[in-house]
Amino acid sequence: MNYMHDGNDNRHIIEADRNHVWHHLSQHKQYETVDPPIMVEGKGLRLWDIKGREYLDAVSGGVWTVNVGYGRVSIADAVRDQLVKLNYFAGSAGSVGAALFSERLIEKMPGMSRVYYANSGSEANEKVFKMVRQISARHHGGRKWKILFRERDYHGTTLGTLAACGQPQRSADYGPFPPGFVEVPHCLEYRNQYPDAPDYGLAAANAIEEVILREGPDTIGAICLEPITAGGGVITPPVGYWPRVQEICKKYNILLHIDEVVCGIGRTGRWFGYQNYDIKPDFVTVAKGVASGYAAISCMITTEAVFDLFKDSPDDPLNYFRDISTFGGCLSGPVAALENMRIIEDEELLENTRVMGERFMTGLNGLMAKHPVIGDVRGKGLFCGAELVKDRITKEPMDEKLVQAVVKQCMSDGVIIGMTNRSLPGMNNTLCFSPALSINDDETNQIIDTLDKALTSVFG
Ligand SMILES: Cc1ncc(COP(=O)(O)O)c(C=O)c1O
Repeated sequence: MNYMHDGNDNRHIIEADRNHVWHHLSQHKQYETVDPPIMVEGKGLRLWDIKGREYLDAVSGGVWTVNVGYGRVSIADAVRDQLVKLNYFAGSAGSVGAALFSERLIEKMPGMSRVYYANSGSEANEKVFKMVRQISARHHGGRKWKILFRERDYHGTTLGTLAACGQPQRSADYGPFPPGFVEVPHCLEYRNQYPDAPDYGLAAANAIEEVILREGPDTIGAICLEPITAGGGVITPPVGYWPRVQEICKKYNILLHIDEVVCGIGRTGRWFGYQNYDIKPDFVTVAKGVASGYAAISCMITTEAVFDLFKDSPDDPLNYFRDISTFGGCLSGPVAALENMRIIEDEELLENTRVMGERFMTGLNGLMAKHPVIGDVRGKGLFCGAELVKDRITKEPMDEKLVQAVVKQCMSDGVIIGMTNRSLPGMNNTLCFSPALSINDDETNQIIDTLDKALTSVFG
């Protein structure tokens, strides 16, 4: 791949970026002395920056998004064809792509039946929160208005979703937040909060019930959970956790909202993360991998039972979901999502995710046997994490700066990996891996070998 502007052009672009662009999630002081990163081209898992440096991307666009890899001409063609035919009409009307994609999506989600389009993960989650509040107002006489969320989970960047944020470093300074969001404990067995309990999974789920009883079951309308916590440290659920959570929701008539923004559309080797655990959700939200970043699209998916709650009194002018997402009506999103789904099916990428995910975990386990700094490895499919500690016995978290040094070393050796970033004070110590679902053996080996070298260079 050979993407290079003329040298003067590059300098102009870098300076324009330095002078005018405010990068996401970045402290900008550093860019007064070093050039900001600018990515210009990608193919498969390979990526090139503006200086012509090549990288292997082990994090699918930085934030587990580009599930089918870069440079998919067929998705670009589908988007182009749609845009020249009709680029936009508000979501109060339907479109061919939206109808067909919702049908394909629902085929893969037994029990679900309705798709509401939006354009980011945060926004899709906000839709659920608003629906829960409206159900409370219209069907529970104002009761069941609170929403539970879990320590270490993340659901978005808006004030509503930050109110449901289990990562204090994400929400710090941005309050006050809307009331009615209540935290339940995390379920990371490696950091067991219940050492005396015989069954960690049950204990972690029962901790949710304790919060429900403390708050009053009649006040709780829904619980929002990631099937596997992503940015909070790649937390795979302990055995026995999900069946008990499901039971608790049923017992107290609490709607279960599964945030599949990261896990959805193949990341864990199944279409949805929740399908690994036999969960029956009332709401599912998906975003990042839906169109692999080729278009901005997110979906809020729910059941016919929930849908019915919003059309039972047609004579009441306020009795429907009074919400719109302007760009949720962009017609490029659903056609990109349809083609993205076709690629996953035709190239058997779910199968590849399961097979390569196991190889990836074998690689990480091999590194754990060699590097005492790795305290725990966790993952499902191509969604993996390695938690770094100072001491395996005490499990004292590794200094964030040293974890960053590993990420930096990999980057300078041409492999982009991630880490928990500004999430939990003192606990930003988990390396994250989420390569495209099309990864092959050579690419897997390159990531593991580069990480091996970086761990040796930082920790000896
Ligand atoms: C689990 C989860 N939910 C929601 C979001 C928010 O998605 P978006 O950034 O598209 O608003 C994210 C983003 O990283 C996420 O990881």
